[in-house]
Amino acid sequence: MAVELAKNVYGVGVVDWALRRFHGHELSTHRGSTYNSYLIVDEKTTLVDTVWGPFQEQLLRNIREIVDPAKIDIVVANHAETDHSGGLPAVMRQAKNATVVVSPRGKESIPGHYHQAWNFRAVKTGEKINIGAHDLVFVEAPMLHWPDSMFTYLTGKNILMPNDAFGQHYATAFPFNDQVDQEELYEEALKYYANILAPFSPLVLKKIEEVLALNLKVDMIAPSHGVIWRKDPLQIVKKYQQWASQEPEKTAVILFDTMWEGTRQMADAIGLGLASENVPYRIFHMAVSDRNDVIAEIFRARAVVIGSPTFNQGILPGLSPVLEEIRGLKMKNKIGAAFGSYGWSGEAVKIIEEHLQRCNIPVVAEGVRAKWQPAVEDLDRCRELGRSVARAVKA
Ligand code: FEO
Repeated sequence: MAVELAKNVYGVGVVDWALRRFHGHELSTHRGSTYNSYLIVDEKTTLVDTVWGPFQEQLLRNIREIVDPAKIDIVVANHAETDHSGGLPAVMRQAKNATVVVSPRGKESIPGHYHQAWNFRAVKTGEKINIGAHDLVFVEAPMLHWPDSMFTYLTGKNILMPNDAFGQHYATAFPFNDQVDQEELYEEALKYYANILAPFSPLVLKKIEEVLALNLKVDMIAPSHGVIWRKDPLQIVKKYQQWASQEPEKTAVILFDTMWEGTRQMADAIGLGLASENVPYRIFHMAVSDRNDVIAEIFRARAVVIGSPTFNQGILPGLSPVLEEIRGLKMKNKIGAAFGSYGWSGEAVKIIEEHLQRCNIPVVAEGVRAKWQPAVEDLDRCRELGRSVARAVKA
């Protein structure tokens, strides 16, 4: 269904309540998602972004509630990832003479996905296209989320359409930020930032400064996923500045995997050590925890303490995905430590410590290894490890 967001501006995208895995199966989306597409009716009819391919017919139905899709003059493709561009072929089959407006890098990525000889126009930061009573103003935003990403601003209505930036994977009954549960909204916005945008934090800070310096009046921020920020729209910009600065809370996250509960007992003892120094902590058994939820927890915390028994002279495979994610997300201002039980060779702790160093996470306490099941003295050493990490968190 089309939703009027402002006079002659409509949301024509799709709410996907059923989505549980995104980016293939890489990202969990417990609350679904939306693929937002915006229709602007002026002298020239403009569509900003489309939807994921499986929903292209629903997009066309939504557009038809307002205009015949054949009358679309301009299709802005802010970003080529197929959750936003997947509906382009269906739209362009109707709007045969439309111009597809892309960033200079989009001129590579959109044709690279669809191999169609559409009429393209590449725009740079600051370029404007007049559509009648309003202008579209473009701002290139590389790495928010791909090199091709771009923001589109609608003058007069003062609506910023920043595509992936400021989004959330959050299906809701109503389209605006002031109509939804605030705790859920920010939980999803943070999870989205931590799992998708965290590695680009320096660029996020720079881009926000650049956009703020344009002194554009912003009445609405309409991203391509989740709710539209209508009430105090700059609240999410301020939150992004805070998240992008990566100043963690004085808390710790303990991650572990275990076969026969030895490493689990060690995790619990480390937690007791942290608590004895009044540092809040959470423990996650990674074989049964949602990796993306845990990433959001790690993103907020100062310390990450990782444990594995030695398995085939390495770590338990259940831990590997989160370790790879920690590396790729380039989290800043973290400290770390390692622990684990072993029976014979006992390499896991060293492997984890080396991984932390590769991630630029300094190891702040000597790792604890316990042979076979941890003895009372081993658990004492774990409590001391927790206390050491806690002191480093508070330092
Ligand atoms: Fe929502 Fe980078 O796509």
